[in-house]
Amino acid sequence: MIIGIGSDHGGYELKEGIKEYLVGEGIQVVDFGTDSLESVDYPDFARKVAEAVLNKEVDRGILICGTGIGISIAANRIKGIRCALCSDTFSARMSREHNDANILAMGGRVVGLGLATDIVKAFITSEFEGGRHERRINKIDVISD
Ligand code: RB5
Repeated sequence: MIIGIGSDHGGYELKEGIKEYLVGEGIQVVDFGTDSLESVDYPDFARKVAEAVLNKEVDRGILICGTGIGISIAANRIKGIRCALCSDTFSARMSREHNDANILAMGGRVVGLGLATDIVKAFITSEFEGGRHERRINKIDVISD
């Protein structure tokens, strides 16, 4: 599995921690920035990771800003993206099983590295259940048509 990861300055430190965890697990990571604590705009990174997910350069994405709110809103504006903002492991698992989320968002000022690592673990090890959930996610994409 290849994970694309991106953050703004508010999520930079957590991004680095999550990246280290994933690489330690032998998971390939493509880092779309940011590369420092210097102030940047989260939509730019949401877009980079979302595009990499849609063009299949990566299998799933992880986006982090201060709260996770702005960067998840930005990602969810892009058709085909189902970005789940999670602060707990149950939601992360359900976002995969019921919503087929292709990007996980977290808040670097909300969750610590320990919890965030468990959330990521739940997100990357859970699979979409399909069935009735497939019909529902298909309806999401036509809402903005
Ligand atoms: C940046 O200060 C902050 O607004 C951003 O990281 C994020 O929390 C927005 O939703």
